[in-house]
Amino acid sequence: MRILVVGGGGREHALVMALAADDPSHQLHAAPGNPGIAALATCHPIPADDIDRLADLADAHAIDLVVVGPEVPLALGLADRLRAEGRTVFGPSAAAAQIEASKAFSKDVMAAAGVPTAASATFTELEAALAYIATHAEPLVVKASGLAAGKGAVVCETRAEAEAAVRDMLGDRRFGHAGDVVVIEAFLVGEELSLFAVTNGREVRVLPAAQDHKRIGEGDTGPNTGGMGAYTPVAIATPEVLARIEREVLLPVLQEMERRGAPFRGLLYAGLMMHPDGTPNVVEFNCRFGDPETEAVLPLLGRGLTALLDAAARGEPLPEITVRPGAAVTTVLASAGYPESSSKGDPISIPDDLPLGVTVYHAGTALTSHGTLVTNGGRVLAVTAVAESFAAAQGMSRDAAAAIEFKGKQFRRDIGWREISR
Ligand code: AMP
Ligand code: GLY
Repeated sequence: MRILVVGGGGREHALVMALAADDPSHQLHAAPGNPGIAALATCHPIPADDIDRLADLADAHAIDLVVVGPEVPLALGLADRLRAEGRTVFGPSAAAAQIEASKAFSKDVMAAAGVPTAASATFTELEAALAYIATHAEPLVVKASGLAAGKGAVVCETRAEAEAAVRDMLGDRRFGHAGDVVVIEAFLVGEELSLFAVTNGREVRVLPAAQDHKRIGEGDTGPNTGGMGAYTPVAIATPEVLARIEREVLLPVLQEMERRGAPFRGLLYAGLMMHPDGTPNVVEFNCRFGDPETEAVLPLLGRGLTALLDAAARGEPLPEITVRPGAAVTTVLASAGYPESSSKGDPISIPDDLPLGVTVYHAGTALTSHGTLVTNGGRVLAVTAVAESFAAAQGMSRDAAAAIEFKGKQFRRDIGWREISR
């Protein structure tokens, strides 16, 4: 099959690697790809949001299946454009991508579908938002409704912090248009879970649950990032819990999306806060695979990923996919200054004797004209270890992350700390 993967981060490297492992006869393309992806696929220097050139690329290579990694091109209508040209696309339409691109829309869908989530209200006017804060108990969570690269949610311990956050968004426009609409919601307690549901719009195949680590610092301290590590499976996500989430969250949302004329085909990512009483409260939906969760989840899948994505993209019945026993732990290596800034151009050294079971995914890397691998962004590499036990995978991932070197490297040694302390 000729497959084009759109994007150039760790998630896309993991997708390309999993597709190549699923069927070595695939002809793989990526746009823009990265130096890691280039070992497995032909990389084309086209940005992931350049819809016209991506459509031309798919045409030029007679692509059978396009798999879209990031949310921005989906929200811009890449899948609509490609489908209009007769291509098979794994990824939702722009209308369905609103489930991630507009938190206000997503809240509305959840309310209509009766899905458990934090009580909330939506504002476009500063005064009304301030009045709401004055009458609601803290902690509150203030969110820019639009796409903000994972940085648009501010957890506020006090009302003063919540006021400052809405002033930032609706007053100073610090998030640009993403903050034109603001959602204020109640703080949810519990343990977070990332769940990937491959869907053809009606039916779902839920992949092994993962847990992300959003804060930069060990012990979940410091500012939020795009994700500093992930692991799977998660002990609290028992088959019964997953069945409940499918019944109470995923299927009602898909039915509501279809009812609104925006059926969702692709990867529906549910970010959940599992309440101690078992209620799966939704924190957010994303319209694509999560990063770095993908780098942990995909290596645990058995054969059949291509067939699953292709069937979902076509709206056909979904085949089963097997999951290997064992555990996967992914540790992200970030560059100096992340998440406030990032540094570029520092040489990276990866030992060539990393143990079997360790995979180094490229997230933000580049090759210089001399062929030196250098840092090129906030999250640089994602190091996944697969092993029989969680503890072994955690140790291997941490040791490999420690052995890789570049200037200013930041990583967490405690990925999966909850699993260890259970
Ligand atoms: P979001 O951008 O909606 O995914 O939020 C980013 C992160 O903020 C989440 O992964 C949670 O850790 C935290 N968060 C968001 N909303 C809530 C909430 N209502 N209660 C508690 N934590 C939240
Ligand atoms: N790791 C969180 C996300 O991909 O949104």
